[in-house]
Amino acid sequence: MPEQRTAPQAGPGPAAPGPARAGGLEIAATGRAVPGRVITNDDMARVVDTSDEWIASRTGIRQRYFCAEGQSAFTLARDAAAQALARAGLSPADIGLCLCASFTADNATPSLACQVHGALGLGEECPAFDVNAACTGFLTALGTARCMLAASALAAPWALVIGAECISRVLDMADRSTCVLFGDGAGAAVVRLSAAHPYWSCLGARGDGALLHAGGTASADRFLHMQGQAVFRFAADIIPRTVARLLAEAGLTLADIDCVVCHQANGRIIDHAAKKLGARPGQFYKNMDRYANTSAASIPIALDELARGGRLAPGARVLCVGFGAGLTWGGALLTL
Ligand code: UT7
Repeated sequence: MPEQRTAPQAGPGPAAPGPARAGGLEIAATGRAVPGRVITNDDMARVVDTSDEWIASRTGIRQRYFCAEGQSAFTLARDAAAQALARAGLSPADIGLCLCASFTADNATPSLACQVHGALGLGEECPAFDVNAACTGFLTALGTARCMLAASALAAPWALVIGAECISRVLDMADRSTCVLFGDGAGAAVVRLSAAHPYWSCLGARGDGALLHAGGTASADRFLHMQGQAVFRFAADIIPRTVARLLAEAGLTLADIDCVVCHQANGRIIDHAAKKLGARPGQFYKNMDRYANTSAASIPIALDELARGGRLAPGARVLCVGFGAGLTWGGALLTL
């Protein structure tokens, strides 16, 4: 069990706008993968005391995917990464860095990134490692990739950035307050430095494991536990602050943003943030109805859906916001 700490009253977050990281990052292609088992809210109601009406009205979730036999965070990460690589028209030799964000990796070691590295046949001079920042993981990995592409002597110019989760493995199917909220999935992006694609980002954390945690080597309890209302308040506070901070750094307003992609934890959190910021109808993307909360995979899955749906024209600006266990949070303003 983590150390018990008092829940925040006003919510953590950047106290004042700070220096966001500016610099260009191009997303050449994305990919996504979900496992084969579709679990509807009615299916969950056969397992715990819940209903489609409660889940849909409180969260916006209508179904989720759970891994079946032979599927895992690794197989999802591999499939999403292979799809992104193929769509980018790149070969394994073009990839100079492989990062995977997850809190539900198959093994403590090797990392998911190393497993993907082996499966895709990436080069020996391509480093690979996992990033664990829970639901902020993909944006943390993206920021790490940008820094390493800019600062390191990598052997090739492209980075493979993945978010992959098999959360069904850490769900307590007797706890209705958590088991209905999450799903399995993966998303991936192939990125490189590019002055033609302006990028701003920020990341933050406040160590407080009491609000949301899942087992590990120091705990016999592998299940995920969450103080839902406290996390809801944290999220409702941090999304508008992160959006406002990135817009200020970029010298833009929300009207300049084509789409806002928040971590897909709860539709009510996203609606609250959209209303507070005065967003246009539909400007904040939502897809938790089909996937539920896939933690580090939720943002890259949404980006891939938007790309496949033709909603991301060249030059479009997408503002992503992640938040979750840790506590962690972060944002990225991308230009496509
Ligand atoms: O990804 C990391 C970030 N995570 C989040 O952002 C999650 C943030 N939190 C939330 O999304 C919401 O707090 C939840 C969806 C987790 C819960 O919604 P809520 O509106 O805050 O519900 P609640 O916890 O206040 O519970 C209300 C009632 C309770 O019953 P009583 O005490 O009023 O009789 C719960 O026992 O709903 C009950 N309840 C359920 N009823 C049917 C809790 N879970 C369920 C359920 N089905 N699955």
